[in-house]
Amino acid sequence: MKTKSVRTTFNCQVCGYQSIKWLGRCPDCGEWNTMVEEKVVKDAGPGAVAMGLSSGDKPTAINEIALTEERRLSSGSTEMDRVLGGGLVSGSIVLIGGDPGIGKSTLLLQVLYHVGRGGARILYVSGEESVKQIRLRSERIGAVHPNMYIVTESSVEKIMNLFQDIKPDLLAVDSIQTLYTSEIGSAPGSVSQVRESAAKLMVLAKETGVPVILVGHVTKEGTLAGPRVLEHMVDAVLYFEGDRGHAFRILRTVKNRYGSTNEIGVFEMKDRGLMEVANPSEIFLAERPVEASGSVVVPCLEGTRPILVEVQALVSPAGFGLPRRTAIGVDPQRVSLLVAVLEKKVGLMLHDRDIYVNVAGGIRIDEPALDLGAVVAMASSFLDRTVDHKMVVFGEVGLAGEVRGVSQVDIRLAEAARLGFIRCLLSRNNLDQAREGQVISLTGVANLQEVLENIF
Ligand code: TYD
Ligand code: MG
Repeated sequence: MKTKSVRTTFNCQVCGYQSIKWLGRCPDCGEWNTMVEEKVVKDAGPGAVAMGLSSGDKPTAINEIALTEERRLSSGSTEMDRVLGGGLVSGSIVLIGGDPGIGKSTLLLQVLYHVGRGGARILYVSGEESVKQIRLRSERIGAVHPNMYIVTESSVEKIMNLFQDIKPDLLAVDSIQTLYTSEIGSAPGSVSQVRESAAKLMVLAKETGVPVILVGHVTKEGTLAGPRVLEHMVDAVLYFEGDRGHAFRILRTVKNRYGSTNEIGVFEMKDRGLMEVANPSEIFLAERPVEASGSVVVPCLEGTRPILVEVQALVSPAGFGLPRRTAIGVDPQRVSLLVAVLEKKVGLMLHDRDIYVNVAGGIRIDEPALDLGAVVAMASSFLDRTVDHKMVVFGEVGLAGEVRGVSQVDIRLAEAARLGFIRCLLSRNNLDQAREGQVISLTGVANLQEVLENIF
């Protein structure tokens, strides 16, 4: 007879750290009050779900491992395929994370429809919406196809049975937080349930070669609810993000075992579902104010893709107390650093000013090339002088006030030229990387002093 020991552990709901006693603060991730007691039914015998893969074989020389051609299932969406690195790889698990209401289920439904239309059988398991609701939404966005099998279920064991019956070519689960496996005593949504359920689906995917798409919610702290452990297990993690007040949604790769992690997909939420945005720059610049101070355009790069964004700054006298520093769409720490550089190296007196920096359109940019844009926007607002409407700027700004070069100069310039810009201010070190015969007139600068002299 198998020995089964029942015990409880305390699991951190943020990072999955386990402890046998309760702790106020998780020693691993440092979060407070995240340890929750969960019952663990430990299966001492074989059959317990392993967290990784194990075949029991002997090690093989790497050149002797049989290569089966990597089969990719197109998701039917150029943007999604770009993010995935060319489509869904067979046997892979893809996790789509995002805030509630951002459009994950809509995106999933549209992808499933396209895959289904391509002839693949689909099993869509929802633990969140009734089949009627899903049908209604499908009708509204025009994503109904007889290859799509929909069921509401949250037991992993039952899902495995359904999987055997339907024999789908693609399995989708919305959301991983609603799943539970009867092998564990804790509630659905808890770290151990999410982890074990995902582990079972992972084994299923690897054994059958069927790709699995999981949807996961994000906590208010901005991480995938519960387990970062989940991110380690799956093959690709995509975040669906955007401001709910804006129609734009960005699908961003955080991890991808089968492709680049720099790619983004851009979508627009319309009344009939998500539309792909092939030319994001045009949209992000559509509402740019003409002849307003505190606004400048930066050609940024997301993966291989150039995107022009408008950086806005508002610098105004602060009231009492500490001045406010708010940054949206850029790293606030980075902005603080740039404010300090502007004060010390160029002598702009910003210490008693409220400073707001925003990237228009609700997109988030994590790229050093944006530094120069933030600096120019802040200086423009502070001095109340406008920046040439036909000019773009890009470059990293260092602590000594130097303007450093960035990569992929040509791609940025080409995109700026395509959208009708005629001047560009960039690092002097980048000048020789710019191709001969640029249609944009280039001004190379070495430090912030020169930047301000050139612009204002
Ligand atoms: P949903 O996919 O349900 O979000 P999630 O699964 O991430 O929680 O999207 C919900 C939002 O999307 C909802 O607020 C309404 C909006 N929406 C549209 O604007 N147009 C549409 O065609 C659909 C289906 C949803
Ligand atoms: Mg949903």
